[in-house]
Amino acid sequence: MRIVLVGPPGAGKGTQAARLAEKLRIPHISTGDLFRANIGRQTELGKLAKSYMDAGNLVPDEVTIAMAKDRMKQPDAEGGFLLDGFPRNVSQAEALDELLEAEDMKLDAVLDLEAPEDEVVKRIAGRRVCRNDSAHVFHVTYTPPKQEGVCDVCGGDLYQRDDDSEATVRTRLEVYHTQTEPIIDYYKAQGLVTTVSAMGKVADVTKRAMSALPGS
Ligand code: AP5
Ligand code: ZN
Repeated sequence: MRIVLVGPPGAGKGTQAARLAEKLRIPHISTGDLFRANIGRQTELGKLAKSYMDAGNLVPDEVTIAMAKDRMKQPDAEGGFLLDGFPRNVSQAEALDELLEAEDMKLDAVLDLEAPEDEVVKRIAGRRVCRNDSAHVFHVTYTPPKQEGVCDVCGGDLYQRDDDSEATVRTRLEVYHTQTEPIIDYYKAQGLVTTVSAMGKVADVTKRAMSALPGS
């Protein structure tokens, strides 16, 4: 199955993608996580991406598309994948379509995770991420770790992302409305979109997302 997960920053894409990918046995491909891994390794790509990410803007298409393509061509993605945070504008969606067409493949579904702005702002403000694995995500009040600042899964350090400051979040939301939301209409025209409410318990959102997938 090939799925795209779209939704505003903080809606819970990463949280849901990790659970869905595990259930569906497909890799979770997050361009945000790939950039953060590059920042951690201090690669040239990481240095470039960081300047855009810290300001809340999109990293240029050329490097983003090349990085995403490269990841989708890895052997573990042959049987399908769950894309989280890519595509993020119409040109990236077109590039993805071209790549899929060239391989004679198609997307099966686009899930649009919906949450009101005041909720996503609260989710981002309290988010803490593990230094060892960005899939280990907590929230100081909603899903707190057993011990403050320590990851329940691996014992790693929990930190607050550099781009989770209030000012940057405002820019990220604006960028989402102006540049990313148009891809929802792009995919609606292909009959691929299901809107899934991101409100309520994490497990309930996962159930709703699973039942929105074809063949469920
Ligand atoms: P990216 O890492 O993709 O960030 P984002 O889209 O802003 O999304 P977030 O990671 O902030 O939120 P999320 O929806 O995954 O929420 P989460 O599950 O963590 O991108 C970062 C940057 O990289 C971009 O700004 C851009 O610069 C660059 N970039 C990435 N992709 C790009 C691309 N394709 N093109 C160009 N640039 C690109 O949840 C949030 C919090 O809420 C957590 O604390 C979680 O525990 C909590 N939570 C989750 N679900 C629930 C629930 N149901 N109830 C209560 N709390 C919940
Ligand atoms: Zn961890």
